[in-house]
Amino acid sequence: MDRETDDLARYSLMDHAVQSDPYGFHALLHERCPVYRMPETGFYVVTKYDDLRKVLIDTSTFSNSLPSRRALKGDLGDLYERLVAERGWRHVDTLQSIDPPAHARYRKVLDAVFFGKRMNAMKPHVEEVTHGLIDDWIADGRCDFNAQFAMKLPGIITAEQMGLPREDIGTFKRWADNLLTVAATPQSEDEVRRSAETTLEMQHFIAAELEKRRAQPADDMLSDLVQAHEGEPLSMEELQSVMGQLIAGGYETVQSALGHGMWQLVRHPELQNRLRGDAAAIKKFCEEVIRMESPVQSLMRRATRDVELGGTLIPEGSLILARYGAANRDPEKFACPHAFDIDRPNVGAHLAYGSGTHFCVGATLARLEMNVAFTALLDRLETIELARPLPDPVHRQSLHWLPMRELVIGFEQR
Ligand code: HEM
Repeated sequence: MDRETDDLARYSLMDHAVQSDPYGFHALLHERCPVYRMPETGFYVVTKYDDLRKVLIDTSTFSNSLPSRRALKGDLGDLYERLVAERGWRHVDTLQSIDPPAHARYRKVLDAVFFGKRMNAMKPHVEEVTHGLIDDWIADGRCDFNAQFAMKLPGIITAEQMGLPREDIGTFKRWADNLLTVAATPQSEDEVRRSAETTLEMQHFIAAELEKRRAQPADDMLSDLVQAHEGEPLSMEELQSVMGQLIAGGYETVQSALGHGMWQLVRHPELQNRLRGDAAAIKKFCEEVIRMESPVQSLMRRATRDVELGGTLIPEGSLILARYGAANRDPEKFACPHAFDIDRPNVGAHLAYGSGTHFCVGATLARLEMNVAFTALLDRLETIELARPLPDPVHRQSLHWLPMRELVIGFEQR
């Protein structure tokens, strides 16, 4: 083994510590091997900004149709699928797990819901929920920002869109966590059976709410979803699949973005005064937060043919780890990439929401939640600081996401 390979082999993206702070490894890959074959998994990790854009845009070479989307493989995977299909709706690929041209059918429906008038109309509601959450702990002078705010805001907004009352945020969290567990964590047979029960509980709730809206449309997102269609209306299986993606995609991501934003404010106290009351600066701040600590660190693609990328030959059929978290710190795209700088000339030019066909459906909602949250937090709190050292590692274990474990802050009330 030569020295260069030896250096790379010291790191593994499967290690909890590297997953929680992958930036040293990403920088080494940028320098030595921008498209890197992970020895542990055989995945090809794409780390440079321009290479990642190529992967995201060329959907015929880099497919979203993967052999399996679940961490459960073999008999246990079959058992989960069978238990869900017997009393609920079997899994069908839609949206993020399907390539063009089939992708467009789902995307048009969701774009109408997520980029239309409904998003603009949501601002006062997001503000009301945000201030209500701050009211719950502001008098204490401290809180676990992760558990008492970052997790709750996106949870409540999405739960309410689904028809769950705000108080049922615990149920929503259980459903969202279950979806992410099935996708990313190997389980025992007992756990698989419990996961299938939780999925069934969620599916039957969603089905009942959708049927209510079909019979009597209301002014909400679920009514938009059952009514909007391109050609044939979406079947219940397709609607369940889309809803699962909205729940899983819109919860942990925004939680992570809010937590990392607060962490940046604590690490750069001078920003607290600078941003307060300055909407344009807060907007740039939110974009820089998700460039620096991209909530989706990676997602998978499959090579449909032999393809050369960044000097590496990727054989047909290989799985590719599209590493957003590395591309967003590519020194050829972002000068001093590890510095948090809201004044950088290309602030916002990151790929944290993807690019092209699968560009994040929820980007407008995520931006709204972040901008409203930091505006309100800075209006009401000052001298925000860390009240307890962060745990080590800072994040829960995950190859793809960057979920903070806790973030206990202290502050003065303004
Ligand atoms: C800061 C928050 C968020 C980040 C960083 C983020 C990131 C991403 C990324 C990187 C993709 C591209 C996937 C790909 O390339 O295959 C994506 C797609 C997607 N996101 Fe988000 N997301 C966020 C918030 C949300 C929210 C709030 C929702 C739902 C309300 C959502 C729902 C989705 C869905 C359904 C897709 C698939 C779109 C498609 O395949 O056409 N995301 N997101």
